[in-house]
This record gives sequence, structure tokens and C-alpha cells, in this order.
Amino acid sequence: MGKGGGCIASKNKISKSSNKYENSAKLSTNVNPSPSKNLKVFIVFYSMYGHVESLAKMMKKGIETVDGVEGVLYRVPETLSKNVLVQMQAPPKDDSLPEISSPSELADADGFLFGFPTRFGCMAAQMKAFFDSTGLLWKEQKLAGKPAGFFVSTGSQGGGQETTAWTAITQLAHHGMLFVPIGYTFGAGMFNMDSVQGGSPYGAGVFAGDGSRNATDTELALAEHQGKYMAALVKKLVCG
Ligand SMILES: Cc1cc2nc3c(=O)[nH]c(=O)nc-3n(C[C@H](O)[C@H](O)[C@H](O)COP(=O)(O)O)c2cc1C
Repeated sequence: MGKGGGCIASKNKISKSSNKYENSAKLSTNVNPSPSKNLKVFIVFYSMYGHVESLAKMMKKGIETVDGVEGVLYRVPETLSKNVLVQMQAPPKDDSLPEISSPSELADADGFLFGFPTRFGCMAAQMKAFFDSTGLLWKEQKLAGKPAGFFVSTGSQGGGQETTAWTAITQLAHHGMLFVPIGYTFGAGMFNMDSVQGGSPYGAGVFAGDGSRNATDTELALAEHQGKYMAALVKKLVCG
């Protein structure tokens, strides 16, 4: 996108600490050294059957309603063999959405939205494998202080919309990242009891059913809202 309207980043306001245990490299990573820049929210996701992917695209749409903030879509690498994917009837991946080349790319983001389907109430192993590959970033706490939200897909109601997001919070905690739930900021749409709808205060969500159910307009709208909400928050955090 690259449109204007980012922000003039504040100079490094972090004063040198006398605390010998403090890693100054950790703190400086959250300060934008360039005088001005457009902000980036990385949407990093895994999707086997496309449900999470449909929310990811709406996240990008929502992010880019906020002037000066760009949404960057990345898949995480697949970890299952072609054979297993065939047995699971997984469709081929859309090549137009790039795979993240290295976890070190995460350091370039100002904020994150991580999306993943549930596997027995927790994030899919593909996403966990990606988080497991961020050890070097963790070592230097390069992601500390960066805001991040989650969005999910489950097969069924009660299948883990909330637990899948909730159990993922440990990933953020160890990196020192800031968990950004959406709460009830979407308003009345979140209280609708007339139809089945995914999503929760922890983040947007879709019910995939047996795989044949697509995200509803409400589920997509919540995802777009989450993207916009995160972009506005990132802008506030970075620009003040
Ligand atoms: C091994 C496995 C475990 C699963 N566990 C759950 C589960 O605990 N709860 C649930 O609602 N759905 C479960 N599902 C269904 C997936 O969450 C569903 O396929 C996924 O949300 C679809 O998202 P996607 O289209 O982005 O891949 C499971 C699927 C697999 C293959």
C-alpha cells in the first residue's frame, strides 16, 4: 500500500537504566529509528481448509481503512506431508498469499494478528511450529512490547473458540508481547442470538462445521472490525 499518514515516530525516550539485568537491546527494538514511516500489521496465519484464510483477508481490509497502516498477509509453513494432506482432503494453498520466509521477519512489524484453526481446543501444530521457530527473537526479546491479537476457526460451537485463543496467550507472554482482545467493541452484533456466529471477546472466529460452512457476513464483519481496531491501536501506540 505505502500510502501516507503513518506517523512521526517519537525519538527513543527510554533512558539508560542502571539496572544491570536490563537488556537495552530489548527495549530499543520497539522504537522506530526512522523519522517517519508507514506502520505495518502482519497477519500471520495457518489455514488448512480456508476458513481462517477468509478471516485473514478481512483483517487486512479492516487494517487498511486506517490511514498509514498496511496489513501484510503471511502464511506459516505447512508441516504435514503431501500424503497426509491428501488424506485430510486439504485443498491446495493459494500461492498468491506468501509464506513467511523466516521468523526474523516478524521484527519488522508494528503489530500482529495471528490466525489459526483449532486442534483439540488449542492452536494447530503448524502455527505452534512457527512460534517454536521464534527462539532467536525471544532470546533478544525483539517482539517485546508489540501488540498482537488472535482469530480462530473451530468446527463446532463449544469446540474451542475461546480456549484456542486463550491458550495461545502464553506465546505472547513469553515474548513480552501485548495481548489485544477485542472485548465487545463490535457492539450489538456480538450479542445476537438469532443465528450461529463465531467470535468472542478474545478475537474474531468462524465455525467451519464439517468444512462445508463458510464464514457468515457477521463473522467476516467481526474480522474486518478486528483489523481496524488493531490498526487504530497500533497507530495510537506508536504515534502517541
Ligand atoms: C486433528 C483435528 C482436530 C480438531 N479439533 C477440533 C476441536 O477440538 N474443536 C473443533 O471445534 N474443531 C476441531 N477441528 C476442526 C477444525 O478446527 C476445522 O477443520 C478448522 O477450524 C477449519 O479451519 P480452516 O479451514 O482454516 O483450516 C479439528 C480438526 C482436526 C483435523
